[in-house]
Amino acid sequence: MEGWVLLCEMEAARGGPHRVVLDGTGLVAWLAADGRPRVFADRCPHRDARLSAGYVEDGRLICPFHLWAFDESGHYVGPDGVADPECAVARYPARAQDGGIWVRDVPAPATSG
Ligand code: FES
Repeated sequence: MEGWVLLCEMEAARGGPHRVVLDGTGLVAWLAADGRPRVFADRCPHRDARLSAGYVEDGRLICPFHLWAFDESGHYVGPDGVADPECAVARYPARAQDGGIWVRDVPAPATSG
């Protein structure tokens, strides 16, 4: 498990998207239709709303502001059900182990100066 960081307990994401701040970076952990965790940046690419304030429906993470939907890969899915490869939220490798959600490769937040 080298390089993997325990983000939260699986239980925390069972009720819906769960926000975690990891080293200053806001993340959202949620469970896809297959029951496995996904971890995205907690920032909608439309207008920066927190995706953790949204909900999961039909295996997609729904933004609370304008109801954009994101599939398991983080791609925006339009009303026609087609994923847009040009519009996506940052997704990080995630896995479930020992009752927890683990993540890796989360970049440090940008700093000014
Ligand atoms: S801010 Fe997320 S859909 Fe508009």
